[in-house]
This record gives sequence, structure tokens and C-alpha cells, in this order.
Amino acid sequence: MSKWHTVASVDSVVDGKGISVTVPGRRKPLALFKSAGHFYAVNNECPHAYAPLSGSSITNGIITCCWHGAKFDARTGKPLDTAAYSDLATFPVRLSGNDVQIEF
Ligand code: FES
Repeated sequence: MSKWHTVASVDSVVDGKGISVTVPGRRKPLALFKSAGHFYAVNNECPHAYAPLSGSSITNGIITCCWHGAKFDARTGKPLDTAAYSDLATFPVRLSGNDVQIEF
């Protein structure tokens, strides 16, 4: 059964950049992004060659992988070009006061 987990404070996430966050009960970290005031959580491994996506940038909800430039829609996880062939897993995000929470 999934639960909401606080993973960061709103102020700790810079618009346009990702951070790596740990979620209790999950073996690998997730990448948390903020873009145009919206937060997104995705698997932290690029499906192309496993780059840590938390080191990547995001613009208008589009993540650009820091290694080879694959682009993904942060809302759906769908790849937007041919550099990556599979989707990123995405996770629901909500704000609770100054807390950013991910459902896992
Ligand atoms: S590892 Fe992400 S595009 Fe290659």
C-alpha cells in the first residue's frame, strides 16, 4: 500500500534543476524536479544508459538528460526523441505546507 513521504522542503528545490531524494522503503533514489512552479518525481535512472537524472535540467516540464540529451515529459515519463526508447517511471507529488511529498 502506497503512502505519502516527505522528501524535501519546497525551498530546497531550485526551479529548472533536479535533486536526488530517498524514499523510505525504496531501494533506489528518485529524481525530484521543479519547473515553472510544478514539482515532478521520476525514476532517477535514464532508460538510455542509466545516467542519474537528478543531475539533469528541466524546462517547461521537459527533462533533458545530463549525459546524452534525451528528453522526457516529466508528467508522463514518455521519451520525446529517439535517444531513449522506454518511459521513465513517474510518481505523484504533492505539497503539504513547506514539505514536498512523494507517493510511493
Ligand atoms: S543516459 Fe540519458 S540520454 Fe543517455
